[in-house]
Amino acid sequence: MDDLVVIVRTTCLLESRSERYGAYLERVLPGRFGPFVRRWAQEEGGHGRRLRAWLAVHDPDFDFHEAFRRFSTLPYHHDRAADRAPADELLSRCVVEALAAGFYRALGRATDDSDLRALCRQLMADESRHFTGFLRALNSFEPLPWSRRLAVAAQRVRELDDDQIIFASHCAVGGTTYDRDRARADYLRRVYRMYAPDDLAFVGTLIARAMGRPVPPVARPALGRALAAVLQTKQRLLPRGDGPEPLWAHLRADLWALLPGRGRARAPAG
Ligand SMILES: [Fe+2]
Ligand SMILES: [Fe+2]
Repeated sequence: MDDLVVIVRTTCLLESRSERYGAYLERVLPGRFGPFVRRWAQEEGGHGRRLRAWLAVHDPDFDFHEAFRRFSTLPYHHDRAADRAPADELLSRCVVEALAAGFYRALGRATDDSDLRALCRQLMADESRHFTGFLRALNSFEPLPWSRRLAVAAQRVRELDDDQIIFASHCAVGGTTYDRDRARADYLRRVYRMYAPDDLAFVGTLIARAMGRPVPPVARPALGRALAAVLQTKQRLLPRGDGPEPLWAHLRADLWALLPGRGRARAPAG
């Protein structure tokens, strides 16, 4: 199945129930943010519907109802013990909205389909606006200590690896038995390939802004290249087939290719 179609199916499933996060946000944030949160939840639900409309035209074999029914068997709940403090939650939202804006930017650039490109542009604009709204809300609080910001952002990035995204991708491809490691490697490989250094620089710049450490424009290309190298390494560490391909095998191949006269040749087997 085409990588981008799998990615759109998965994103459609995720966006289609992101509205539910609104109830949690209304619970943990002060009441003055209620109207903003309700508008946000409505727009996120709209993203799911618009992706679904694109799939109905371009991927008519996709049975959204069946995939969503299966995806909904994964509990969506917030353990009250895990509720974040308001400023922590707002910083965490900034990280997610920055990732979402960068995701649609990368998807829109990677596709040849003009409808999807136009849709991604609109969704990216929404996610960027969400980022700005949550950042404005965050800035209305006492600034968090630097160590706290790092901890909150790192935890939110770690949470991306939970079952929500991976199980959605499994349902999106109509998989039968859920093999989490396999589904994770398959999906992340598809997603990682989609990003260009420029998309990563965009995400990194937004997150750095939310962290209170803006990146000067002159440093953005280097940031993009550094993040692309990190993503490439993460991609290489993903298991393939029946077992993980060790990093040393890739490093050996790369070092071999650097030898004079070897060009892009691969290292010999064995
Ligand atoms: Fe969204
Ligand atoms: Fe958003």
